[in-house]
Amino acid sequence: MKRRVVLLGAPGAGKGTQARLLAARQGLAHLSTGDLLRAAVAAGTPAGRAAKGHMDAGRLVPDDAVFGVLFERLDARTTAFVLDGFPRNMAQAAELDRRLAALRLPLEAVVDIDVPDARLVARLAGRRACPGCGRNYHVEALPPRKAGTCDDCGRALQQRDDDRPEVVTERLAVYHRQTEPLVAHYASRGLLARVNGDRDVEAVQRDLLACLQGAAAGAGRQA
Ligand code: AP5
Repeated sequence: MKRRVVLLGAPGAGKGTQARLLAARQGLAHLSTGDLLRAAVAAGTPAGRAAKGHMDAGRLVPDDAVFGVLFERLDARTTAFVLDGFPRNMAQAAELDRRLAALRLPLEAVVDIDVPDARLVARLAGRRACPGCGRNYHVEALPPRKAGTCDDCGRALQQRDDDRPEVVTERLAVYHRQTEPLVAHYASRGLLARVNGDRDVEAVQRDLLACLQGAAAGAGRQA
């Protein structure tokens, strides 16, 4: 199985949901730049202070701040990982290649989770996240057992500030302009597979796993 993986996809496509499952079940490190940046904001670190205004506005955080929070977690011991939310532009993809080449841990697969924009807006409007463990829920599609409370750690669920409708519009525009070109970039390198993310969570996970196991059949499509 391919064990050094990037998940691409628009905001709300399910990168975090799928990455968390994959990491837990396959023993991969889950590296989410969104989670790392939110932790930096909460801790008031210099990277967090640099990031906050950009995140609140739905823009990409400057590359140097993102590299700082990510690459202190990615070292030679991190031999198997799923990257969620990184890279997000061509400069980040180039830096990732440089760092992984230096560690002799080349990327093995990039999977694009494909969901139509109209579905994404509904997903983000209904998302609730646990401030303790980071698990995501959806008020209708994936509700917790007890309303408003995390199944895993019992904390009160919160709505993310950047899930307000006007910020979601900007995040989707930024995705299409800056991140979507990475799909063609990784396809040209023979690393890309695509899964249809507009199905239930376990069906998407099955296809994702099939892609990583190199299965040609199933709904996972090699691009
Ligand atoms: P980040 O946290 O990475 O946000 P994002 O990419 O916009 O992605 P999301 O977390 O919104 O969505 P997701 O795809 O993880 O979906 P999820 O699984 O949660 O980044 C936030 C900000 O940080 C950025 O805007 C930027 O400012 C900054 N940032 C981060 N990385 C950066 C970088 N590399 N460079 C620069 N800046 C960076 O699911 C969404 C909802 O749908 C949930 O409610 C979930 O329960 C539900 N759901 C999931 N799957 C399904 C399904 N199959 N069916 C029904 N509902 C589902």
